[in-house]
Amino acid sequence: MASSSSSSSSTKKGDRHQKGREQQEQSAGSGSSNNSNSSSVSNLILRNDAEGKFLLNLNIMLSMENAALERLHARIQETPIPEAKEALVRHLEETRQQKDRLQTLIRDVGRTTQGQQPRAALSAPTDERAGLPQYLLPEIMADALSKSLTPIEQELKTIEIDGLIESAEIMAYNSLVQMALKMGFGEAAVALRQSLEEEERMAARISASSPAIFGKYWTPAGDLLAAARAGGEGGEEAWSQQQQQQPAAA
Ligand SMILES: [Fe+2]
Repeated sequence: MASSSSSSSSTKKGDRHQKGREQQEQSAGSGSSNNSNSSSVSNLILRNDAEGKFLLNLNIMLSMENAALERLHARIQETPIPEAKEALVRHLEETRQQKDRLQTLIRDVGRTTQGQQPRAALSAPTDERAGLPQYLLPEIMADALSKSLTPIEQELKTIEIDGLIESAEIMAYNSLVQMALKMGFGEAAVALRQSLEEEERMAARISASSPAIFGKYWTPAGDLLAAARAGGEGGEEAWSQQQQQQPAAA
């Protein structure tokens, strides 16, 4: 799920189990094969090379943020729900800063450990993009979902994935903070904790707003996407018109 459009379209199609797995494998594979440093990286890390592992994990986190940044741009463009767009826009700037923080940390940690191992490849911030978390459904359920999803239900499912990605980022930053502390990289731990707290706030925003968004935009009777798209000043009016029309339409 390197981009929102791909993540959304895959959700639209119900995230076919096998297809999704193949996409993730392709994504992971391309991340390795396209990286000109990949072979040198794998040769540089030994089981007892803690600094190398820290640098590798910082770059893994950076590859997640690279993918998240790309996805956020697309999500902001595509979401018809103003409340979701507002949260995504706010998190876009945070994600840019998280990416900058990681790039700085990778260069700094790489410099301080350079004398111990010739690991120039690990000390360079990656431009690669990780495959982000998504649902991998059993095929029969994926088919049923793809045939029954309305546009607003598609968006609500995508918001679930927004939360899933933030949760993954929280877990990854948690590990990085602990790794930094155990290795005595105090300043790195402070910077990573700042990013962790931003991810926790974004996850909390998604979690707290989801029930209200669901309640406002979904009905058992049909799709109220038009009301969501109206948004802004006319949104409430369009929303109430839709609600009034709903029983007749049903
Ligand atoms: Fe995030």
